[in-house]
Amino acid sequence: MDVRVYKSPFHAVRSLNSGTSSVLFIGDCIELIRNMPDESVDLTITSPPYCMGKEYEKSRSVKDFIAAHKIILPEIVRITRSGGSICWQVGNHVSNQSVYPLDYAIFSVLGEMKEVTLRNRVIWTFGFGMHQSSRFSGRHETVLWFTKGSDYFFDLDAVRAPQKYPGKRRYKGPRKGEFSCNPKGKNPGDVWEIPNVKAAHVEKIGHPCQFPVALAERLVRAMCPKEGIVFDPYMGSASTGVAATINSRRFLGAEINRGYQDMAYRRLLSAHEGTARIRPLGRPIYVARPGDSVAQRPEHFLEVFQ
Ligand SMILES: C[S@@+](CC[C@H](N)C(=O)[O-])C[C@H]1O[C@@H](n2cnc3c(N)ncnc32)[C@H](O)[C@@H]1O
Repeated sequence: MDVRVYKSPFHAVRSLNSGTSSVLFIGDCIELIRNMPDESVDLTITSPPYCMGKEYEKSRSVKDFIAAHKIILPEIVRITRSGGSICWQVGNHVSNQSVYPLDYAIFSVLGEMKEVTLRNRVIWTFGFGMHQSSRFSGRHETVLWFTKGSDYFFDLDAVRAPQKYPGKRRYKGPRKGEFSCNPKGKNPGDVWEIPNVKAAHVEKIGHPCQFPVALAERLVRAMCPKEGIVFDPYMGSASTGVAATINSRRFLGAEINRGYQDMAYRRLLSAHEGTARIRPLGRPIYVARPGDSVAQRPEHFLEVFQ
């Protein structure tokens, strides 16, 4: 199984350069990145700490989040190949019910760098999360997608979604009566509904902030050529690594927390063996059937809605 783990950034980079499919670095991602050559990564997909007081976070301040990103983002741009992509997935920082959208901070740094261009601000929406009573409950996060240069890799056909009305026909013009939709499927758009990894989600393995493999999978297929290198500096449980592996891309990840590193290692091994538990990208969102018990309205609900 071609999954290797290193404590030395030098050896991690050397292993990747010699063709290892999945390389995990245990330590601070900045240490690893500083050992990585220029233009050596096709695609970075990551979700950094949001400074929300999770067990793996030292700070709770947006100021520190911005300061850390002023260091890491220029380095990420340096290691990205010309024509490569950077996908930064973030939500909101919330303090005393005051909301700061963290993608503003990311844009304020990357938007100033002439080497990269923002291509999409993808809204990732999901059905579950904390209930709020003094504002609307948050049910989306974002992915900012930047490319390095304008001649960039983008394989739309690899991520097309089923057409909503495949049998639709042209209703006027010389081709009137012909089917009008692209038979390969539609562009998935920039609002993606993908269940988050909560409750009984099949991918849940104990990391407090896993994103779904399907989210990373769409980015991997569209933005990285086969056998290309996908990097996740804040790897967590290696959801990005699983997406890369099951789609025949190589992976480099960094994780500072020993427990999560073990989790990531085991998960990557299972991805290489073909046994990783995954919710497929194309699986429809669950909707209860009218006869299901969860779809029945209890008596006291009726009084409220009358
Ligand atoms: C939001 S989580 C990423 C979760 C991941 N996307 C997944 O699906 O499992 C951020 C991760 O970054 C790790 N981390 C924080 N600071 C780090 C650093 N300086 N270098 C490497 N990893 C770091 C944390 O331990 C945590 O696991």
